[in-house]
Amino acid sequence: KADIYNELRDLQEEIARWSSTDPANVSLKSSLFADIVDQARQLDFILTDDEPADIIIERLRSELLAIEQTLIPHGLHVAGEAPTQDERLELLAAMAEAQPDGKFDAHALAQIEKKLCDNHELDALMRSLDGRYIQPVAGGDLLRNPDILPTGRNIHGLDPCRMPSGFAVRDGMRQAKVLLDRLQADQGQLPETVAMVLWGADNLKSEGAQLAQALALIGATPKLDSYGRLAGAELVPLSVLGRPRIDVVVTLSGIFRDLLPLQTRLIAEAALEAAKADEPEDMNFIRAHALAYQAKHECDLETAALRVFSNAQGAYGSNVNQLIDAGCWDDEEELAETYTQRKCFAYGASNAPTAQPDLLNSILADVDLAYQNLESVDLGITTIDHYFDTLGGISQAVKSATGNAPPVYIGDQTSGDECVRSLQEQVALETRTRALNPKWYEGMLRHGYEGVRQIEAHVSNTLGWSATTGQVDPWVYQKIGETFVLDEEMRRRLAQLNPKSSARLAGRLLEASDRDYWQPDEATLEALRNAGDELEDRVEGLTFPEGATL
Ligand code: BEZ
Ligand code: MG
Repeated sequence: KADIYNELRDLQEEIARWSSTDPANVSLKSSLFADIVDQARQLDFILTDDEPADIIIERLRSELLAIEQTLIPHGLHVAGEAPTQDERLELLAAMAEAQPDGKFDAHALAQIEKKLCDNHELDALMRSLDGRYIQPVAGGDLLRNPDILPTGRNIHGLDPCRMPSGFAVRDGMRQAKVLLDRLQADQGQLPETVAMVLWGADNLKSEGAQLAQALALIGATPKLDSYGRLAGAELVPLSVLGRPRIDVVVTLSGIFRDLLPLQTRLIAEAALEAAKADEPEDMNFIRAHALAYQAKHECDLETAALRVFSNAQGAYGSNVNQLIDAGCWDDEEELAETYTQRKCFAYGASNAPTAQPDLLNSILADVDLAYQNLESVDLGITTIDHYFDTLGGISQAVKSATGNAPPVYIGDQTSGDECVRSLQEQVALETRTRALNPKWYEGMLRHGYEGVRQIEAHVSNTLGWSATTGQVDPWVYQKIGETFVLDEEMRRRLAQLNPKSSARLAGRLLEASDRDYWQPDEATLEALRNAGDELEDRVEGLTFPEGATL
C-alpha cells in the first residue's frame, strides 16, 4: 500500500482533529477548518468554494484514503530473488483483499506463502537457454490468481476459442456500465463514440474482459457453437440492452493483433452487425455514423463499418513515444499525424487489413472520449511510455480531427472495487502514491542507477501525457522539481547513482516549462537551470573505459 506521508499525513491528522472536535466549540472547529483548507490548497487538492464544511472534509478524507490504500510496486523485481518476509506479508494481504469474497483460509494462505518462497526463475532461465523443458502454467495476474505461482514457469496464454470467457463477458458488461455511469455523471448524457485501446497481455490476464467491454458497449456478445467455441458475434436486442448501441473505435496494440486474430475479427464482426441492423439511428450510433459516411463517400457498408484499427502487419506502436523521448517535435499536430499514419490500418470481419486514414479521421471526428483499462498494479500509466503512445496518441488525433481535446478516462481494474478516473485524476494519484512518495522512490533507489532511471521515466511519461492530452496539472511538475532537483541532498544522491538520468530528469522539467505545461516562477526556473547545468557538467565529466561511449 502506498501509505500516507509527510504533509499528507499532517492533513489527515488535522481532519481527524476536526472530526473529533465538539460541534458546540464553534470557534475551534472553524479555525481547524480554515487550516485544513489552507493545507489542502498547499497540497494542490482541488477544492470548491461554496460547499458546506462537512462535504469538503468528507471529500478530502476519501481522497486521502484512496492515496493511502492504493497499491504500488515496492522496488523492482530481481530475477531469482524471492520476496522477503515483510514483502510476502504485504503481498498476501493484497491478494486476500483482491479475492471476491475477501478471504483465503489459513491453509490456503500458508500454501501461497510457500509458493512465493519457491523461486525457480534462474533455474528455469538456464533450462530455457539449454533448450530444455519448462513446466507450463496459465498466464495471469498474481493478485487475482494465486495459481500462477510459483514463478519461473512457461506461461501459456489462452485457449483462443474460449476468449472472452463467460466470466469475462459478465465482467465486461459490468465495466461498460461503470464507464457509462461515470460519463452520465460528468456529461449528463451517453457518449455516441468511444475510442478504446486494447492490449494483448491485459486481455490474456483477464480472459478477455477488455474486449468483452468493447462488445458490451456496442451491445453484442460472442456467439458460441455447440462445443462452446467462439463462432462470431451476435447483437443483444435493443429491448434487452435498454440503451443505444455506442459506436466504439478500437485501437489494438500490435501484440493484441498478433496474439488474438479470432478476437480481432470478433470485434470487427460486432461492429458490422450493428451497422447492418435495421434499427432507429438514435438507438444505434454505429449505424448512424456508418450510413452517414457511406452516403458521403459512396463506399460499401463493410468499409463504412470498419472499427478495428492497428498497425500494418509486422509493425508495433504509434512512434509518438519515440518523438516524445527524443524531444524533437515542434507542434502537437506532428504527434497526431504520426499516430494516424501508424495506426490507420483497418482490420475487418473478412478481408486483409488496409490503410484507411480518411475513414479513421472521419470516425475520430465523432469521438466523445478516449478510454483504456488499467489491469496491473505493476504498471501505471506513468510507468511505461506505451500508455501515452496509444491512448495519448489517439487523443491527440481526435483533437486534430475535431479541434478539441477529448476527455480521457482510465478504468482502474487493479483492485476489488473498480472505478473510472479522468486522466487528470489518474496522473495526480500516481504522482502522489508513487513519484512523491518516499516509500516508492526509496524502494526504487535501492536498485541504484536503474531506480533513478525509473524515476526519470515517470517524469518523461508525465510529459508525454501533457503533450498528447494537455490534461496534467502544473503542480505535478512543480512538486517533482522540488523533490528531485531543487532538494540539494536528493539531487546529489540521484547524480551519484545515475548522472545521465538525473540530468535528463532536470531537462524534462525545463522542457515542460518551455512547452508551457507548467509556469514556474523566475526563481524556480533559474534554480532548475543551474541544477540542470550542474548535472550536465557531471555527465560530460564522466570518464569511460576505452572504447565505451554514452
Ligand atoms: C500488449 O500486450 O498489447 C502490450 C504490452 C505492453 C505494452 C504495449 C502493449
Ligand atoms: Mg516497444
